Amino acid sequence: MENEAEYPDEFISFLELIWGEGYLSPGGPAEISRILDGLDLKDKKVLDIGCGTGGITLSLAAKYGAAKVVGIDIERSVLDIAHRRASATEMTARVEFVKVVPGSLPFGEGEFDLVFSKDAIIHIPDKKALFADIMRLLKPGSWFAASDWMSNHDGKPSPIMQRYLRAEGLNFSLGSPERYHEALALAGFTDITLCNRNKWYCEVARQELADIEGPLYEKAVAAVGKQESDRNIRIWRTLVPALETGELCPHHIHGRKPGKPA
Ligand SMILES: C[S@@+](CC[C@H](N)C(=O)[O-])C[C@H]1O[C@@H](n2cnc3c(N)ncnc32)[C@H](O)[C@@H]1O
Repeated sequence: MENEAEYPDEFISFLELIWGEGYLSPGGPAEISRILDGLDLKDKKVLDIGCGTGGITLSLAAKYGAAKVVGIDIERSVLDIAHRRASATEMTARVEFVKVVPGSLPFGEGEFDLVFSKDAIIHIPDKKALFADIMRLLKPGSWFAASDWMSNHDGKPSPIMQRYLRAEGLNFSLGSPERYHEALALAGFTDITLCNRNKWYCEVARQELADIEGPLYEKAVAAVGKQESDRNIRIWRTLVPALETGELCPHHIHGRKPGKPA
């Protein structure tokens, strides 16, 4: 029996309406390009953790020239869409989508030249175990490049943050940038950087809220119904204040596995 999807079809459709086809997180291609700035994916083998509906996974092959990209996710609903999306492209031989169960990743030591993830690690409670596993999967000298939603502290969420977390209703394990840094260092990563994207997303999210309450509303209702549209407006109305205090703070994350590339 599959667990109930955290990303059911109407939620996926709503998020893709705001964030673009194939994107279940904000920022579109420009944000991916910032995360990958300075990294060469050409002819490389890449792992995309929490690939969602596959738009980013496909772009890692099509736009960034990766020879092979493996997108993994725990949800059948998103992977079915990712499969369909890939089938409609020329990328089928270079992109593979794999359903995994939470825990140790089913790949061999040193199998990947780059491990990527966009806004999915928030769903994974044990960051130390995850980063140790990513370290195992990477070739010496290669990079982990990601983005994730974080909290600016590891204490009890403020009432504003709690209101957002309740409205979102997703299975989130928020950690602070310090906690991520510590877990990456413990796993053996070097050149660790964490770049706060709060200011950027705060502006973007205000605009998203104005759009879904205004010009996008009718389109959203036609696509996913009034109930789902209104539910998401309620989420965004709690999301924006959590960003405005700085407590909810998406970050870009980079770390390198020590050693010389072969
Ligand atoms: C916010 S979505 C982001 C999807 C995609 N990276 C994007 O930016 O469009 C987070 C994804 O992580 C997936 N996820 C949750 N827990 C996971 C786990 N333990 N391993 C892999 N993926 C997971 C969810 O099913 C969901 O598709």
